Amino acid sequence: MTEPARIGIVTVSDRASRGEYEDKGGPAIEAELGKILLSEWEAVAVVIPDEITQIKATLVDLCDNEGCCLVVTTGGTGPALRDVTPEATEAVIHKPMPGFGELMRAVSLKSVPTAILSRQTAGIRGRSLIVNLPGNPPAIHDCLMAVFPAIPYCIDLLEGPYLETDPAYCAAFRPKHAKKKQS
Ligand code: MTE
Repeated sequence: MTEPARIGIVTVSDRASRGEYEDKGGPAIEAELGKILLSEWEAVAVVIPDEITQIKATLVDLCDNEGCCLVVTTGGTGPALRDVTPEATEAVIHKPMPGFGELMRAVSLKSVPTAILSRQTAGIRGRSLIVNLPGNPPAIHDCLMAVFPAIPYCIDLLEGPYLETDPAYCAAFRPKHAKKKQS
């Protein structure tokens, strides 16, 4: 039997990490991934404050030690003084993937003009893809639905687990020449 794919879910929020505010972002990502993915997966969820050292250490741990093929962050992407999630992500990735941020902002702009305030980015660390999402749950839905079709093939290219999505909810796109899952 194949091991479930491990997916890191990182809520970056001072207030949620202090327990002053219920974490809505992390559970929203988990629920969304539950609808998107048909293949077995498990969440490795953490809630941390907007501290660059802690965000960097968490991302490195999820990629290098926890074996997450995908790490999704929520929050801390805006212009506020404490928002540093994109800087932490840029500091730990080996390859930037600018298309993710470009697409998420383009799609989000159809819903809210303030989508340009999100500096969300993405990149590859080793064999893991890290993607930043904004903090609010509707934004999580808009952004994940936009970029997820390309994520399974990105993870194939990183020699990670074969992710299968529910085509009725969010169809993954793999080029025709892409290798099929070994059964
Ligand atoms: N994207 C979508 N799809 N929907 C939204 O409501 N909010 C914007 C933007 N992107 C939003 C969005 C706002 S108001 C901000 S400040 C930025 O995301 C950054 O949010 P964050 O600091 O919670 O990451």
